Parts: sequence; C-alpha cells; structure tokens
Amino acid sequence: MIGGRVAIVIGATGGIGAALVSALRAEGSYRKVLGFSRAGTPRLDITDEASLRDAAASVAPDVPTLVIDATGFLHDDAHRPEKSWRELDPAQMARAFALNAIGPALLMKHFLPLLPADGWSVFATLSARVGSIGDNRLGGWYSYRASKAALNQLVHTAAVELARSRPQAICVALHPGTVATALSAPFAKAGLKVRDANTAAGELLAVLERLTPADSGGFFDQKG
Ligand SMILES: NC(=O)c1ccc[n+]([C@@H]2O[C@H](COP(=O)([O-])OP(=O)(O)OC[C@H]3O[C@@H](n4cnc5c(N)ncnc54)[C@H](OP(=O)(O)O)[C@@H]3O)[C@@H](O)[C@H]2O)c1
Repeated sequence: MIGGRVAIVIGATGGIGAALVSALRAEGSYRKVLGFSRAGTPRLDITDEASLRDAAASVAPDVPTLVIDATGFLHDDAHRPEKSWRELDPAQMARAFALNAIGPALLMKHFLPLLPADGWSVFATLSARVGSIGDNRLGGWYSYRASKAALNQLVHTAAVELARSRPQAICVALHPGTVATALSAPFAKAGLKVRDANTAAGELLAVLERLTPADSGGFFDQKG
C-alpha cells in the first residue's frame, strides 16, 4: 500500500505534477513529499544528466517508496505535433525523444537505485495512450507517439532488471487520461472528456495503490 516514508514527484511544476504533490501532501500518509523541477533547488532538468545525479543524491538519507515522473513534452512555440510525414523534422523528433524517452530513462538510472531493497515501492512515469502501437488508428503525432512508445519499452526493460535486486518494487508507465493542462490546451476539442488535474492526480494515485509486483513493467491508464 502507499504509505511509508518519502514520496518524490519529478516535474512538480507541471499541471499534473503539481496536482500530484498537492494530493500526496493532503493525503498525509507520507512523512515527506519532495518535488523536483527546473525551478527548484537542486534544479532538475531531465536533459542534463548531472542535474539528475545531483537531485537523486540529495534525497539521502531518505528512502523513497514512491517516485513519480510527471515531466513530458508535446508542443512548444516552435514545434506542433505532426499531422503528416511531410512535417517530420529531425530537431523536433530529437527533442521529443530527449524529453519523453531519454530523460525518463536517465531518471530510472539515477532514481530506481534509491528504492528500498525490501518491501512495496513504485517508480511510475507518465506516458500517453497514443504511445500504444495497437491503439493507433488515427496516425499523426509521430514524434510524441514514437517517443512515448520508446518510453514504454524502456520502462518494461528497467522493470525486468529491477526485479532482480528489488523483487517487491514496481516500475510502470501511466496514461493519465486527457487532463486540462498547458500540454493539452491547444488540442482540447468540444465533446472530448477533459478532467481537471486534481481529479487526474487522485485517479493516478488510486491506480498506483492497487499495483502489485506482478504489474511491474506494465502500462496502466487512469482506470487501472
Ligand atoms: N495533459 C494530458 O492530457 C496528458 C495526456 C496524456 C499524457 N500526458 C502526460 O502527462 C505528463 C505531464 O503532462 P502535463 O499535462 O502535466 O503537462 P505540463 O503541465 O506541460 O507539464 C510538463 C512538465 O514537464 C516538465 N519538463 C519539461 N521539460 C523539462 C525538462 N527539460 N526538465 C525537467 N522538467 C521538464 C515541465 O517543467 P516546467 O514547469 O519547468 O516547464 C512540467 O513540469 C507528460 O508526460 C504528458 O505527456 C498528459
């Protein structure tokens, strides 16, 4: 069960990340809830491995039983999700992979070793349902889809390795559903079910609470 000592949220300034920090603090079962971000101290930028190493080192002597990565990238002023292969741009693809796949992989490198050797613990990273190959019927969004698919594979691979040293630890990818944040705002359409970030955070924590080691390596949506 969720409980114990310390929870960590990476991307604590994001729409979902900030809501996760608030929900964990309100829930009261953690003695300490640490939020890491580019705006915090130590500054954590997932494209800067030294900053990940420093952030992970700053957690000791605390031992986290819950680590959630709520970082991610879909668009910025220069990059919109591609509607066609005609729009494929190497710089945009590299940025999506750097932020959605390589960054979270390096987070796993530096934060999975912080999980306790014994007992229930979870590392969860926010992926997206559009990273599912089987579920892809609409096409488009090449860089985001492919970088989240890569993330899901990285999570599964790390889960296999994690089980060797920490058999009760769980490493998963999560789909939060469509949530009203800066990331989703340009794509909100009439009729699309968009939830507020506090509702989404509560749903995601409920999903994490129910996970068992047999679920490690999996990809779960907000309904579990
Ligand atoms: N919202 C949705 O409908 C939806 C749907 C499916 C999946 N997701 C996934 O959920 C996750 C959270 O998304 P959100 O909706 O909460 O978006 P958001 O509000 O835009 O938050 C994105 C977070 O990523 C952080 N970030 C970006 N680049 C970073 C970097 N280089 N180093 C460290 N942090 C960085 C941002 O930090 P700053 O505050 O410093 O910019 C922010 O905390 C993402 O992985 C997204 O793909 C969201």
